[in-house]
Amino acid sequence: MIERVEGDRRRFMPLLLLADEQPEMVERYLNRGDLWICTQDAGASAIGECLVTDEGAGVLEIKSLAVDPVYQGKGYGRALIEHVTRYYAGRFHTLQVGTGDSPLTVPFYERCGFTRGTVVPNFFLEHYDHPIIEAGVQLVDMVYLSRPLR
Ligand SMILES: CC(C)(COP(=O)(O)OP(=O)(O)OC[C@H]1O[C@@H](n2cnc3c(N)ncnc32)[C@H](O)[C@@H]1OP(=O)(O)O)[C@@H](O)C(=O)NCCC(=O)NCCS
Repeated sequence: MIERVEGDRRRFMPLLLLADEQPEMVERYLNRGDLWICTQDAGASAIGECLVTDEGAGVLEIKSLAVDPVYQGKGYGRALIEHVTRYYAGRFHTLQVGTGDSPLTVPFYERCGFTRGTVVPNFFLEHYDHPIIEAGVQLVDMVYLSRPLR
């Protein structure tokens, strides 16, 4: 089940910190846009989240996407992306995401139909107070990926 969060979003901080480990960075978008969560049954705990924001000019951006490690690799990340794609199609023309150039995330987005675009050099060196390591790789640049919303 996928539902939009009404009210306090901080209770989902553990999931949000899986996608972005620096709390100050999460605070930048925590209360912007829409936060969606997925659960296995109505009323059950959230096992995944996706936060999307209106970036103007018909562009919707995924600011955060995470699935509890216990449930990763079971299609929940893809289900969240397909949900927002269906929900916002017609009101936006593009779904984009900025992420570390990491072997854990870029191939996932590519499998979900995104293609690589602009690169923001040194983003992780300039905006984070400590090195961010994923799968043994230090993140340096941010890569934007996008897919049409239709
Ligand atoms: C990235 C993340 C959201 C993916 O969610 P998930 O539920 O594990 O992914 P899914 O099971 O929906 O995978 C969807 C597809 O991507 C593929 N995929 C997922 N991770 C992959 C990887 N590292 N390399 C290659 N393919 C990958 C899956 O095999 C699947 O392919 P298929 O449907 O064609 O068989 C999840 O691993 C996660 O929360 N990671 C930690 C937080 C994070 O890094 N968030 C992204 C930052 S914005």
